[in-house]
Amino acid sequence: MAKIVQRKRLVPNLHLIEVHAPEIARKCKPGQFVIIMPDEFGERIPLTVADWDEKKGTVTSVFLVVGTSTHKLSKMDEGDEIPVFVGPLGKASEIDKFGTVLCAGGCFGIGAIYPIARALKEAGNKVIMLLDVKAKYLLYWEDKLRSISDEFYISARDAAFNCKNFIPKSVEDILKKTNAIDRIISIGCTYLMYACSEATRPLGIKTIVSLNPIMVDGTGMCGACRVTVDGKTKFACVDGPDFDGHLVDWDELFARRKSYFDDEIESLCTWERLNFP
Ligand SMILES: Cc1cc2nc3c(=O)[nH]c(=O)nc-3n(C[C@H](O)[C@H](O)[C@H](O)COP(=O)(O)OP(=O)(O)OC[C@H]3O[C@@H](n4cnc5c(N)ncnc54)[C@H](O)[C@@H]3O)c2cc1C
Ligand code: FES
Repeated sequence: MAKIVQRKRLVPNLHLIEVHAPEIARKCKPGQFVIIMPDEFGERIPLTVADWDEKKGTVTSVFLVVGTSTHKLSKMDEGDEIPVFVGPLGKASEIDKFGTVLCAGGCFGIGAIYPIARALKEAGNKVIMLLDVKAKYLLYWEDKLRSISDEFYISARDAAFNCKNFIPKSVEDILKKTNAIDRIISIGCTYLMYACSEATRPLGIKTIVSLNPIMVDGTGMCGACRVTVDGKTKFACVDGPDFDGHLVDWDELFARRKSYFDDEIESLCTWERLNFP
């Protein structure tokens, strides 16, 4: 059992959850994830660690409410107990002195990219931050991310930022201005990571993505998270979740993520009927 220390809505549909898990907080590295089961009747869902505090013994994630488990999690509060909270899982992100690194995050990836960008900054890199939001009201953690960035950009579709670009165009614009980018890290929904990879492919700039296929055990046993990278079968939970975006078989990933679509919809409708009759 792990106790929730804090659960709050950051912006519509995106929540922060901070959980007391001292063993995990002690071992966490940027880019790793935890597996959570909101209750004993639910499924195991992976969430990237967005921050941790060794002294308080807490681990924080940011999650988007999409289906039954994330809906359940969004209804939980301080003091509630989570029956399964496992981690840290996955390989940590590669942190080195690369030079100039563009960190491109969107949706829950705005939170998930924070510890990676912080570690890259501490390793002596110039960090260019690019956050993708549909509109200004969906932006969170701006101050936190600005504080570890050398340059800071927003890619948005509303008028508030005087920029109506989706992320690939914003990536292209930054690459035109700063032609010495050594690496790109992209985290967020699958389409955002795919689009960033396609934007950098012609230039051959190494682009790392944090893949989010369906996962079950998170320890390399079940095969649910199988992805193809550079023509080889990989399990995202133990071989990743970070991979070279130019080598990922995106069509397969998009297709496999839809495998249980009908069951997921049915599950959410049943849960809604039972809890909000
Ligand atoms: C390694 C890893 C790390 C992850 N880290 C995070 C994280 O930090 N924060 C986070 O919010 N999610 C993260 N995810 C995704 C998260 O695990 C899923 O969103 C979650 O399992 C959904 O569970 P659910 O029961 O709520 O929805 P489900 O019932 O499983 O799915 C509901 C429907 O929503 C769709 N869906 C799933 N994800 C999205 C999305 N991002 N946008 C739009 N539709 C979607 C699915 O295709 C499905 O049709 C991560 C996944 C992996 C593999
Ligand atoms: S989640 Fe089971 S092998 Fe990766």
